[in-house]
Amino acid sequence: MALKLGDAAPSFVADSTHGKIDFHQYITGSWAILFSHPNDFTPVCTTELGAVGKFLPEFEKRGVKVIALSCNDVESHKGWIADIESFTPGAKVSYPILADPTRELAVKFGMLDPDEIDAKGIPLTARAVYVFGPDKKLKLSILYPATTGRNFNEVLRVIDSLQLTANYSVATPVNWNQGDKCMVVPSLSNDAATAKFPKGFETVEVPSGKSYIRLTPQPNVD
Ligand code: BEZ
Repeated sequence: MALKLGDAAPSFVADSTHGKIDFHQYITGSWAILFSHPNDFTPVCTTELGAVGKFLPEFEKRGVKVIALSCNDVESHKGWIADIESFTPGAKVSYPILADPTRELAVKFGMLDPDEIDAKGIPLTARAVYVFGPDKKLKLSILYPATTGRNFNEVLRVIDSLQLTANYSVATPVNWNQGDKCMVVPSLSNDAATAKFPKGFETVEVPSGKSYIRLTPQPNVD
C-alpha cells in the first residue's frame, strides 16, 4: 500500500551504512527525508547520491535528517560510496544508506516501478522522495520512475514551502522561490491574517469579486 499524505511514517529497523537504524527513533523530533534507489552501482543513482552529499549543509540548515535506501546489502553500499564521491567532487556520503536487498521496505512503502523489470522479472524500486514532519507524518511524496533522476533543488524548495506553512500559515504560489511573496492560507480570516502578519497582506482584485487571493511578504525574511 502506497503511503498517503498525513500517514504515519512506517516503523521499521533495518541495516544501514551507519549500523542498525530504528527509523522512528532516527527521525524523532526532526523533519526527515527518505529517498529510494533501485540499485547500487547504477549511473543515475550515483549522480543523485552525490548531489545529496553536496546538499547536506542545506538540509542541516533546515533541520532535516537525510536517509537513503537502495536495494542491496550494506557491503555493496559501502563499496559504492567511493564511486559516488569520486563522481561528484566535494560530495560526502556521510548520511546513512539503508539496505533493502529483499525489497521488503520497498514493498512496505509501496514504491515499486512496474515498468522497470530486473533480470529475474521483478519490478525495480522507483525513485521515491518522502518528507516527514516532526510529528512523523508524511508531508510530501514524489514518485519518479527508475529511469528519471530527481531534482534536489526542487526538493529543497518544497521543504522550504512546507516549513513556511508549518511555522507561519502561508502557502506558496506557482514557481515560488525564497524571498518571493507568499499567500495567506484560505482557512485564515482577514482579521486573523491582520493579527498574524505584521508586514500586512494585499488582496488581489479579480473579476469574480471574491477576495481569495491574498499576498503577503515571506514572513521569515527582512
Ligand atoms: C540508474 O540509476 O541509472 C538506473 C537504475 C535503474 C533503471 C534505470 C537506470
